[in-house]
Amino acid sequence: MLEPQFDVIPQLLGVGDIPSSSNGVLMVDADLRQMVRVEQIRLVLRKLSCISEKLFVVQNQVRSMVEQAYALGATDVISRPREIIPKLVRIAEKPAQTDLAVVAPELTDSAAAFASMFSAIRNGKPINLACAERATSQIIDSIEQNGLSAWLDDVRRYHQGTFQHCLLVTGVAVGFAMDVGFDTSDIRRLGIAATLHDIGKARIPLSILDKPGRLDPAEEEVMRRHPVIGYELLKDIPNISPEVLDGVRHHHEYLDGSGYPDALRAPQISDLVRLLTISDIFAALIESRPYRPALLRPEAYKILCGMDGKLERPLVQAFRDVALVA
Ligand SMILES: [Fe+2]
Ligand SMILES: [Fe+2]
Repeated sequence: MLEPQFDVIPQLLGVGDIPSSSNGVLMVDADLRQMVRVEQIRLVLRKLSCISEKLFVVQNQVRSMVEQAYALGATDVISRPREIIPKLVRIAEKPAQTDLAVVAPELTDSAAAFASMFSAIRNGKPINLACAERATSQIIDSIEQNGLSAWLDDVRRYHQGTFQHCLLVTGVAVGFAMDVGFDTSDIRRLGIAATLHDIGKARIPLSILDKPGRLDPAEEEVMRRHPVIGYELLKDIPNISPEVLDGVRHHHEYLDGSGYPDALRAPQISDLVRLLTISDIFAALIESRPYRPALLRPEAYKILCGMDGKLERPLVQAFRDVALVA
C-alpha cells in the first residue's frame, strides 16, 4: 500500500544485513511482547540511529506494546494501516530537522529495560534484577561520558510518565553520588536503588498512575502504597542488597517523621535513603505533570532548600552543584 508513492526498503527482522541509512522513516511492525523481537529491533535501531522518524505499528494500541515501542525510541505509534499514509505524508511535509540529535544507545537500552521490568510485573512475573543492574550501568556510563545535563535533557525529550521519572531519578542519584565522591560500588548501589525505587508503581492501577490531573485523597492513598509494594516485590530476590530494599521502602520518609510508609525519623533514615529522597523530589519537580509545567532546575532546587527539617540541610547544600551546574 505504500508503493509507488513511497520508496520502500523492506527488511525481515533477524534476516540478513540491515542496510544503513540516515534518512527516511523507519517503520517497525513486530510483536513487541516477544523479547527476541525486541532484541532484534534494538540491534536494528543501533545501526539506524541516525534516522529521526521511527514509526511503530501496534495493533489496537495494546498498552504494554505501546510502552515498549516508546522505550525502544519510537517517535510515533500507529494502530491501523489506514493511519500510515497520512502519517507519512505529514512527516514528508515537515520541515527538515536541523537538530540531528541522535538518541544515545544507553538511553534506548535502559528505557527498554524499564519497560520490560514494568510489563513483567504487571503480568505477574518476577523482577529481573540483572536487567535493573544493566540499566543502571548504562545510565552510569552515559553520565560519565556526557554529564548529567545531557542525560536529563534527552530523557525529558524522548520519554514520558513513570519511565521518564525512573530514568531521571536514577540519573540525578548517580550524578549526586559521583559529585560527593562515592566509590564505584556505592554509586552502583545508590543507582540500583534509584532504578527500582518506584517499581511498586507497576502494581498501581493505570487509571491512577496515568491520571491526567491531581489525585483525589482516595487515589493518593492507593498511590502511597507503592513503596511497600516495591519492597514486597523485591524482598525475596536472592542477592538483593538490604540498602536497595531500604531505599525502595523508605524513599518517601522525612527526617521529621512526616513521611510514609513507616513514619521513620532522622536516626532511622540511612544516608543512602537521604540521597535518594533528595534525588527523587528534584527529579519529580523538573518533570512536567498534567497539572503543572516542569520547573527549571534553580526553581526546583529552591523548593528543596525550603524543605528544612524534612531533608538533611548539609546534603541539600552538597546537592547544589548537581542541581544547578552538573
Ligand atoms: Fe516513590
Ligand atoms: Fe519517585
